[in-house]
Amino acid sequence: MRKPIIAGNWKMNKTAAECRALVTELLPKVKGAKCDVVVCVPFTDIALAAELTKGSNIAVGAQNIAWADSGAFTGEISAAMLVEAGASYVIIGHSERRQYFGETDKSVNARLLQALKTGLKPIVCVGELLAEREGGLTEKVCRTQVVGAFEGVSAEQAAGVVIAYEPVWAIGTGKTATDEQANETIGYIRSVVKELYGEKVANGMRIQYGGSMNAKNVAGLMAQPEIDGGLIGGASLKAEDFSIIVAAAK
Ligand code: 13P
Repeated sequence: MRKPIIAGNWKMNKTAAECRALVTELLPKVKGAKCDVVVCVPFTDIALAAELTKGSNIAVGAQNIAWADSGAFTGEISAAMLVEAGASYVIIGHSERRQYFGETDKSVNARLLQALKTGLKPIVCVGELLAEREGGLTEKVCRTQVVGAFEGVSAEQAAGVVIAYEPVWAIGTGKTATDEQANETIGYIRSVVKELYGEKVANGMRIQYGGSMNAKNVAGLMAQPEIDGGLIGGASLKAEDFSIIVAAAK
């Protein structure tokens, strides 16, 4: 059995003051969760979120990680900085990073290797564009992204990675993949993991769905056998909505 994992991706939202308000509201609401609960907050909120969630069932994550240990990489944040600030998870290769900040399968791979080296738990994002889905390229795109991301990653390391399947056309659009579409593609991604690492790793790996997941559609998505949780954008910014999603993951 795979334990579901619900992670909020706050993206570039919430100042420190707003982070304090949201986490404080969230803590009692998700206390009895049957799944792993993570909030992936902006860098400037990590230390505060870690302090507020200390001793609770909410883990704190970052939204990116540098591939180098330290040095002349203006604007980047190192693994050691994230760990010391209190992060235990990190999102890698989100489609917004790929789309707006030149992230490639190669840079995703380098960041993943760095996260694994330093003990941060990675959430690696993959997913196709609308034109790719319409062109019948969904599986090909997901395969290329997974194979590229995991280059040089051992089976033992891979077992600790979470994959988030986020069809780009479903992100922030209100258009969710249907339960069956999401389940089918996640099943396919699991088959690619199986090719790379064998049945045990594939069956144990948690693969989330992401893209307009919300309090209304979470039950249907979570009822699918391949879907092990969600990476939630917009709906993670409201304590009420996020806690309903968390409660649905059991
Ligand atoms: P939305 O839930 O806002 O569609 O965002 C999904 C996402 O990109 C999570 O990483």
